[in-house]
Amino acid sequence: MKIYTEKHKIINAVEALKLKNLSVGMVPTMGALHQGHLQLVIRALKENDVAVVSIFVNPTQFDNKTDLEKYPRTLESDVKLLETVSETDIIVYAPTVEDIYDGNTVSETFDFDGLEYEMEGKFRYGHFDGVGTIVKRFFEIVAPNKAYFGEKDFQQLQIIKKLVEKYRIPVKIVGCEIHREANGLAMSSRNTRLESKYKNAAPFIYKTLKTAKTKFGTKSANKVTEWVDNQFKNHDLLKLEYFIIADTKTLKPVKRKSNKKTYRAFIAVYAGEIRLIDNIALN
Ligand code: PAF
Repeated sequence: MKIYTEKHKIINAVEALKLKNLSVGMVPTMGALHQGHLQLVIRALKENDVAVVSIFVNPTQFDNKTDLEKYPRTLESDVKLLETVSETDIIVYAPTVEDIYDGNTVSETFDFDGLEYEMEGKFRYGHFDGVGTIVKRFFEIVAPNKAYFGEKDFQQLQIIKKLVEKYRIPVKIVGCEIHREANGLAMSSRNTRLESKYKNAAPFIYKTLKTAKTKFGTKSANKVTEWVDNQFKNHDLLKLEYFIIADTKTLKPVKRKSNKKTYRAFIAVYAGEIRLIDNIALN
């Protein structure tokens, strides 16, 4: 498998593909790959000739230094896992911080029409400026035809759609369904850091989301939110950071339900020191 760490090399490699009229699907990741990532790669290969998988723990999107330091970095096993999908049609782009940020590791500031102030934006200061900065840079370097993102980070997905719309970046953004463990826990690179007692407790998050969805059929958003708050109030291991029912498009919390709109429930929970997020479509 080809692995590039330098900008000019990946640029040349992609240019060579384009000259041969081959299409490129990009899957941006921060590594510690799991089955959820592999589904994105498989989809990218179904819809394109080549998949470029970036593996880069992006410092500017972390508001918490410990989280950045402890974020798993497993390039060797990531490459092995990707080889189980294809040995020939995947290119790994694993830049160094120095090379991609040209020695200036700071974020640009973005206006995502308010999407950036909701949920994760409230709890993770500067996070979406960091995501916007790196994804924009990836798109400039790799210039993929399509790019694939998981719906687990649904707010990120909406923000990236906004980014390409605002900057007129010619890439089609494809959102892919959340991939779950058999017990319902949304797959995440952070799951590997869960101690076993938290790992056993964590499926409660999705179970609660599913019940919230049923309740939303007959109850107001406030009532459902109150119910979810209560479920976590006395939980020994899981600490609720937020549960919000929001408009799928604007991501603003729903005030009064309208059957002309679609909604989604979003949740962030601490399992010990590990922060887990999840979401579910409500209609
Ligand atoms: O979702 C992620 O893993 C990251 O936020 C992304 C999109 C790769 C940008 O660093």
